[in-house]
Amino acid sequence: MSNTAPSSRLPYRWLAEYYDVVFTPFRTPIVRARDRVLGKILPGIGLACDLACGTGTTAIELARIGIDMFAVDDSPEMCRQARRKAKSEGVPLKVIRADMRDFRLPRPVDLVTCEYDAINHVPSRRDLKKVLACVARALKPGGYFYFDVNNRLSFELVWPGVFWISRPGVALVIRNFSDPPRDRAWSEIDWFIQRGASWRRHHERVNEVCWTPEEIERALRAAGFDSVHSWDASPFFKGTPEVKPGCRTVWLARLRDAD
Ligand SMILES: C[S@@+](CC[C@H](N)C(=O)[O-])C[C@H]1O[C@@H](n2cnc3c(N)ncnc32)[C@H](O)[C@@H]1O
Repeated sequence: MSNTAPSSRLPYRWLAEYYDVVFTPFRTPIVRARDRVLGKILPGIGLACDLACGTGTTAIELARIGIDMFAVDDSPEMCRQARRKAKSEGVPLKVIRADMRDFRLPRPVDLVTCEYDAINHVPSRRDLKKVLACVARALKPGGYFYFDVNNRLSFELVWPGVFWISRPGVALVIRNFSDPPRDRAWSEIDWFIQRGASWRRHHERVNEVCWTPEEIERALRAAGFDSVHSWDASPFFKGTPEVKPGCRTVWLARLRDAD
């Protein structure tokens, strides 16, 4: 085993490269929630954006059902993976590298999605307002914003602990920490990556913040969303007993229609 390699400046470097290999088996609840909440809405959507798109999995799935898709992510490596995957699957996808706190789309869309608690990944609780302002600007009047979040209870019950995941040629140790009273959580991730006969070690840190449901609803309404609905996510996580009621919420908000 060699020494630790210097960490990349931005997180999601190694996460991006190995995201699908490591996390695809955990996606079922995310897809279940989308099917349940957006199932009736998707047939009416022509143009959409997946925000914090990661490797483009959701954007590609939506493109496959005939929706013209933008995909936005701040990580250059995630964007690269999303472009590569869309190309290799023959799916049209416009990937834009941008921060969710100040992104702009070339055209207004009918739907913005932001899945797998990506919205919790902003650096500060104050950033929710910025993200929602950008999402509202990106939507047509009457457009939808769909997202899921980790709540404080998730930081208390689900988050803490040490997790070991291994796949052929790669293994990671995730040490999770949280400070629920400050609505903060973070993961220290040590990667072990096989290169020929030797293994390289890399480190990445990922931060999350959270908000109360009341804060989210207030922020959505202040950003111009006049129809706001939420679902407790635990039924979508059946088979993951640690995700108890109150840990995660799925939100669907509709931007005010043009007068
Ligand atoms: C947990 S992953 C979720 C990815 C994807 N939504 C999915 O369902 O697999 C979080 C994603 O948020 C992105 N991200 C984190 N902070 C961001 C920011 N400020 N602006 C845009 N993307 C960001 C990361 O690069 C990463 O792809």
